[in-house]
Amino acid sequence: MSKKVGDVSMAARVVAFPPALLLLILSLASPAAAKLSAGYYQKTCPKAEQIISDVVTGKQISTPTTAAGSLRLFFHDCFVGGCDASMLISSNAFNRAERDADDNVSLPGDAFDTVIRAKTALELQCPGVVSCADILALATRDLVLMLGGPFYTVRLGRKDALASTAASVPGNLPNPNMTMDQLIDVFAKKKMTVQDMVALSGAHTVGFSHCNQFASRVFNYDGRGGHDPTMNPEYVAALKQACANYEKDPTIAAFNDLMTPGKFDNLYYQNLLRGLGLLASDSVLAADKRTRPLVELYAANQTAFFNDFTKAMEKLSLVGVKTGDKGEVRRRCDEFNSLST
Ligand code: HEM
Ligand SMILES: *[C@@H]1O[C@H](CO)[C@@H](O)[C@H](O)[C@H]1NC(C)=O
Ligand SMILES: *[C@@H]1O[C@H](CO)[C@@H](O)[C@H](O)[C@H]1NC(C)=O
Ligand SMILES: *[C@@H]1O[C@H](CO)[C@@H](O)[C@H](O)[C@H]1NC(C)=O
Repeated sequence: MSKKVGDVSMAARVVAFPPALLLLILSLASPAAAKLSAGYYQKTCPKAEQIISDVVTGKQISTPTTAAGSLRLFFHDCFVGGCDASMLISSNAFNRAERDADDNVSLPGDAFDTVIRAKTALELQCPGVVSCADILALATRDLVLMLGGPFYTVRLGRKDALASTAASVPGNLPNPNMTMDQLIDVFAKKKMTVQDMVALSGAHTVGFSHCNQFASRVFNYDGRGGHDPTMNPEYVAALKQACANYEKDPTIAAFNDLMTPGKFDNLYYQNLLRGLGLLASDSVLAADKRTRPLVELYAANQTAFFNDFTKAMEKLSLVGVKTGDKGEVRRRCDEFNSLST
């Protein structure tokens, strides 16, 4: 009887997946990503997630800019050569690392510091076990949650990169001046859809941008002192005032979401529909007909945003992951093991 049932389900499986299709599916799936699992450290470092969560919580409470910084650092790390902590390597006399590429646009030190602190705590408990890439992925998840965002599962087992060069950055990261076609293309290169891109851009519901990232929209957009007409005029006036001295003081910045800058919610999308997008790459999401329906959906329905953000973050966290001998578990997150022996 049970054999019969087995036969039937086997037959059903063969019908559902003819061999040629099965081969195609297997060749499309990333073999490295398939090796990751939520319980990867269950035996080797059972307290890993708790240790990371404790460090991250303490750091975020003492330095509330940590969360946004980490989220952005994670995004950059994943888009440049995969989620492999290559963005955490420090430059030295022989190598200019990814984090010091011109496109780094001031990745915040607090995010690096969080990973390094968590690593220090983990090395005391289970030395040489937990990769820096996994620490960054988990820290980012915990921080999104602390800001009020959704929980999502992070599969583990990423190895840390064996290389990090500034030269590998250009072309991999989006910038605010890109057209919609260019933005879509940068994400498509990492197998991210337009929906993934719009949902992930919701990360701009927290954190800030420096004035030089949007100054050309507010000060002299048209060569006659005007501003980007898609922006709310009162918003422009406030930004002009805030950024009046930005050329002398490049540290001046504005909140990405002026309504609830420290809260992970869907007001970012509501802002976009009211001309309150800060970066040109934010505003264009509401202007382009390929993305506007999603902006409208997320603005109206935070649950829909959280669901899609969750799916997109899970996907982002698998981009280009390295397993086996394609990487190592670093002893220090800012140095390759070969240099720190
Ligand atoms: C769609 C294309 C995107 C562009 C053009 C873009 C560009 C930027 C720029 C220029 C800044 C300001 C940097 C500064 O002045 O210090 C910024 C900040 C930020 N970005 Fe993006 N970004 C994009 C997508 C994303 C994605 C997908 C994420 C994460 C999932 C993300 C997370 C963040 C966060 C959290 C901040 C605030 C950082 C902080 O406060 O320290 N961005 N982004
Ligand atoms: C970003 O790169 C510049 C050099 O291009 C460097 O001065 C700066 O320290 C880098 N930022 C970080 C956080 O490493
Ligand atoms: C965007 O383009 C404008 C106009 O070409 C330029 O002034 C500005 O520096 C650019 N901004 C960035 C962040 O590349
Ligand atoms: C919001 O989106 C969620 C998830 O897609 C859906 O289940 C729910 O019905 C939506 N709510 C409204 C009011 O449309």
